[in-house]
Amino acid sequence: MQGVTVVDHPLIQHKLSLMRDRTTPTGAFRTLLREIAHLLCYEITRDIELQTTPIETPMGPMDAPIIKGKKLVFASILRAGNGLLDGMLDLVPAARVAHVGLYRDHDTLEPVEYYFKAPGELQNRLVIVVDPMLATGNSAVAAIDRLKRRGADRLRFLCLLAAPEGIAKFTSAHPDVPVFAAAIDSHLNEKGYIVPGLGDAGDRMFGTK
Ligand code: URA
Repeated sequence: MQGVTVVDHPLIQHKLSLMRDRTTPTGAFRTLLREIAHLLCYEITRDIELQTTPIETPMGPMDAPIIKGKKLVFASILRAGNGLLDGMLDLVPAARVAHVGLYRDHDTLEPVEYYFKAPGELQNRLVIVVDPMLATGNSAVAAIDRLKRRGADRLRFLCLLAAPEGIAKFTSAHPDVPVFAAAIDSHLNEKGYIVPGLGDAGDRMFGTK
């Protein structure tokens, strides 16, 4: 699919199957999500630019590669995005963090913003927006709209599961934003849940419901 990368590493697929299983308890679900976030973070940052800096190893001087440019920004779509965010920050602890609070109106399935806080300068930074479920695509589109209005001009979107309907909506609204997912599922049900999916990601990671 144009603009979408499915990261189908066997470790990711195995862990994802454990997450999908309805009998997997909250603690294990959260740990698995964090582990998959590490693997997805590795892939989504694969092509970021490096520069060299002079350092001294115990054996002598070298020009050592480090990440070039301004700090990355991870933007979490609350609340389920935080599950992916934790794992991303394990790998890139110096990243800046934006939080976008959106909930889905249960009747219209439209996103309603209740919180937005982002680093001051988003221009020229790589902003990776995270949300485990790209379902209708409404929240993802709204979050990217908002970040673009705040100056973000280099964006990527990272999710665990995507529905074809969500991908279609997202890529037509933001064709400039590449999508990374661990899997593309069959379809959305009438309530906007991904099938076969894994249920409500927020409820499963936080033990709510
Ligand atoms: N959000 C979820 O948590 N799960 C879905 O299946 C769709 C949206």
